[in-house]
Amino acid sequence: MGESMQGLKRTHYCAEVNENNIGQEVVVMGWVSHNRNFGPFLFVTIRDRTGIVQTYFNQEENKLLFDKASSTRGEFVVAVRGEVIARTEKNINPNLKTGKIEIRAEELRILSESEVPPFTPSDTGVKDDLRLKYRYIDLRRPELQKNLFLRHKAAQVVRKFFDSEGYIEVETPVLAKSTPEGARDYLVPSRVHPGTFYALPQSPQSFKQLLMVSGFDRYFQITKCFRDEDLRADRQPEFTQIDTELAFVGQEDIFEINERLCKAVFKETLDIDLELPFQRMPYDEAMERFGVDKPDLRFAMELVNITDLVKGSTFGVFENAINAGGSVRGICAQGAAAMSRKQIDSLVEFVKGYRAKGLAWINVLENENKTSLSKFFDASAIQNIVNAFGAKAGDLILICADKTEVVFDALGNLRNEVAKRLNLYNPNDFKFIWVTEFPLFEWSEEDNRLYAKHHPFTSPFDEDVELMDTDPMKVRAKAYDLVLNGYEIAGGSIRIHQREVQEKMFKALGFSLEEARGQFGFLLNAFKYGAPPHGGIAYGFDRLVMILAGSSNIRDVIAFPKVKDASDPLTDAPSAVSGKQLEELGLSLIQSQEKEDN
Ligand code: AMO
Ligand code: AMP
Repeated sequence: MGESMQGLKRTHYCAEVNENNIGQEVVVMGWVSHNRNFGPFLFVTIRDRTGIVQTYFNQEENKLLFDKASSTRGEFVVAVRGEVIARTEKNINPNLKTGKIEIRAEELRILSESEVPPFTPSDTGVKDDLRLKYRYIDLRRPELQKNLFLRHKAAQVVRKFFDSEGYIEVETPVLAKSTPEGARDYLVPSRVHPGTFYALPQSPQSFKQLLMVSGFDRYFQITKCFRDEDLRADRQPEFTQIDTELAFVGQEDIFEINERLCKAVFKETLDIDLELPFQRMPYDEAMERFGVDKPDLRFAMELVNITDLVKGSTFGVFENAINAGGSVRGICAQGAAAMSRKQIDSLVEFVKGYRAKGLAWINVLENENKTSLSKFFDASAIQNIVNAFGAKAGDLILICADKTEVVFDALGNLRNEVAKRLNLYNPNDFKFIWVTEFPLFEWSEEDNRLYAKHHPFTSPFDEDVELMDTDPMKVRAKAYDLVLNGYEIAGGSIRIHQREVQEKMFKALGFSLEEARGQFGFLLNAFKYGAPPHGGIAYGFDRLVMILAGSSNIRDVIAFPKVKDASDPLTDAPSAVSGKQLEELGLSLIQSQEKEDN
């Protein structure tokens, strides 16, 4: 059984003890990080959330105490009282905050023992699943502790900023109705109304618009959102948004205030001074130049359209793509001509993950160009392509032909991948960009209908309203994303506040007014009673903190994240429930039904 703390009070966090405390008695409490024994001397390093400090036990001075200290193992929870002493010159550790001192122990209490842990917080190469199953041990890692402190700090800066700008934080329901973000809902069955379900909010979108109708004028909330979609490194099924909405504003107001928010966050968390205003780029331009609507601007390597240049060749792949209305485009990786065939093949495999069928390549060399296209283009035609890319000897040109949408997706992602492999950017560089003028609609081949690109309450450009009936794909939306280093960290829009425009929107989406009322009737009703012009934006808070933390996986900044199949290895959620619970909810499982049938 662990000893009690009675009569002992912590005086310092471990890493707070320093040279100024030499000669003083201190009490530290924490986890045993490691034990090192040198004959009659024992050094026990103790860890808490601030860092580590070394305690020292001498067998000749106090055998009982020495033996007790020797019995501790990694992750035991201990309290040590003792005098702070200077380390001898040769024992000073300049890499450690507490490296100039140690605590000569006078008392040790073992507050709690630990079984041998499945891994220790300093182990590297531990499998992800194991780390997440024992997340409470994993969270003892200094890096993860640092990330969560950073997350806390960022949240405080956000709250302080919005408070000073006159925003009010309002909590909105979690047991809610389906929201219009377009992902799959998480449903919660109602016991009181069997056969009916709440939907966990994909965002507080409807509620924040209602708050504008209520006249709160400026709202924000740091809140959980739920989306049943495939997990990725920057996506979790439950994640946190910094959600905001403002009345009587246009896009410019939203850009301005959010730029200042980002500036405050970067200044106060990383002490980095961001330059304002951020760059802006219309969606069409972003696609044309970078292939994606979230361009990473830390490096160039822009897409080049060579459709006209290569038209009319004997190369079927290019001709078929062009004749089908597609295009031929490529990127030029500077200095990458040294890439082996194997490396190029792995890039071909990479783009296949984005539906592209292949990649053609040109190795630009001093006296000749080596290319996979030699069967179809003569040397001067190849040289023309090389010139179109402005390529020099030593560069590698990668070309893709397909439907333009596929070409963009493949090359946009290839561009990021090549930049990563070639180390083309400085990880400490932060490049923000507003992507603007998104199309209002996107066309789904699969469903043969239009969908709202952002959501059905997003306002079209005033001058494009008429096109909603005649040429909907040309309609630009007052929608914007804030992109940082290739990640979409926030997205939002100015909303529709005029009923006629909203009706046009539903019509274009193929909703009858009845259907729209069924899903969003409460919001449409509210708009009948005085809706101010309004708009807003929401940040993926986890993504923002991930970038601040210099990580590339949002799991690193979430205390208890889920794994790829949306389960939680720590708690084993989701899990089966009892028959009684199902019965109360009026539910039966198809699987158990089948069993009964058999
Ligand atoms: P949107 O759907 O663009 O907009 O979401 C806003 C931001 O939330 C982040 N995000 C995610 N982060 C982690 N995991 C996920 N599964 C995930 N999904 C989204 C992204 C994204 O930019 N209601 C609107 C906002 C508005 O119009 O004001 C909305 O939710 O960083
Ligand atoms: P092949 O005739 O199949 O040997 O192809 C000649 C070259 O064209 C090879 O380097 C292929 O990788 C490349 N290629 C195949 N499909 C495409 C495509 N969709 N776009 C660009 N190049 C392609």
